[in-house]
Amino acid sequence: FHVDWDLVTAEKAGFDHFMLKEIYEQPKAYRDTMLGRVADDGKSVQLSELTMTKDYINSIRKVHIVACGTAYHAGLVGKTVIESIARIPVETDVASEYRYRSPIITPDTLVIVVSQSGETADTLAALREAKRNGARVLAITNVVGSSIAREADDVLVTLAGPEIAVASTKAYTSQLVVFYLLSLYFADTLGTKNTAEVSEILAAMQELPEQVESILEQALVLRDIAESISSHPSLFFIGRGIDYPVALEGSLKLKEISYIHSEAYPAGELKHGTLALIEEGVPVIALVTQEELYEKTLSNIKEVKARGANVLGIGNVGYEEEANKSVDTLFSIPRTLPILTPALSVVPLQLISYYASLALGHDVDKPRNLAKSVTVE
Ligand code: G6P
Repeated sequence: FHVDWDLVTAEKAGFDHFMLKEIYEQPKAYRDTMLGRVADDGKSVQLSELTMTKDYINSIRKVHIVACGTAYHAGLVGKTVIESIARIPVETDVASEYRYRSPIITPDTLVIVVSQSGETADTLAALREAKRNGARVLAITNVVGSSIAREADDVLVTLAGPEIAVASTKAYTSQLVVFYLLSLYFADTLGTKNTAEVSEILAAMQELPEQVESILEQALVLRDIAESISSHPSLFFIGRGIDYPVALEGSLKLKEISYIHSEAYPAGELKHGTLALIEEGVPVIALVTQEELYEKTLSNIKEVKARGANVLGIGNVGYEEEANKSVDTLFSIPRTLPILTPALSVVPLQLISYYASLALGHDVDKPRNLAKSVTVE
């Protein structure tokens, strides 16, 4: 009797790759990251692990978010989330740039470093620079005992569980959840959102796990889309507002594992140069989830369509009729609050990258030239 079994196969729990397994673990990662942090009555956020006082929160004049790679993209979403919910000005920087641009760091600056591994050398160096300048540092990390967790003043752990695939998925989305929770926590102290508004956001967050599940059920649709994209040498991602950092993350994911060149552009910026690269058949993935910006983005889609682009729209359930007139293919994500859409809209992009890489026969979990954790500057 022989059982064909090895540890790695067992760890993949029936999935062909760690990346796919981790994409499917996102509903659980959302639940785990929220668990115990939302009050039983659903009206407030409890972050008992934070040591900062209410006086300190009131004294914060600006926030700097510093990170690398996918965590940087989470930080770009975090900027919009903190600014809109807690009304504190935020700058987001790539860690390897932050130190060398002599940022204005004062004791009333809260520096938030974001790192899945907690070991990224550039992010750790930025943390040290921030502390040297008297700022308080809050780390958002997935690894409790990591260097970044140890050196930061405060730590908010993402409870995504171990992430093995080089391309980050569940860690990124869990970082978004932490940004939502942190912003609501600040908003409570700063009075920038009333209880009804906080409750509304928290209630919508509780729906996210099931909504992600409903996207995952459509994986085969996304596989077909990915296969048709995989034969193209280059493509574009566009989006406005909070859709733009998601476009950046979708583009990074695709480049990392499928090696297909792509660029992400704010939809309205395309006409200032890059439109020249749109020609017959070029795939464009357009994120159109922000109702306020709907008309504007649709008009940008028409600009690329007029040049022959083949447009995949990522839109919202309930808005299909209008979007369908402008795009070639539409993939709808469940309806949520506009600020929460990144927690859903990135999921189809992760799956498209995964299936494109698979179609091209690449090593999904260990793409060439990349490391899971970069511990050199
Ligand atoms: C490496 C990985 C990326 C990751 C980045 C930051 O470059 O290949 O996927 O986003 O590091 O990693 P961290 O562990 O700091 O989030």
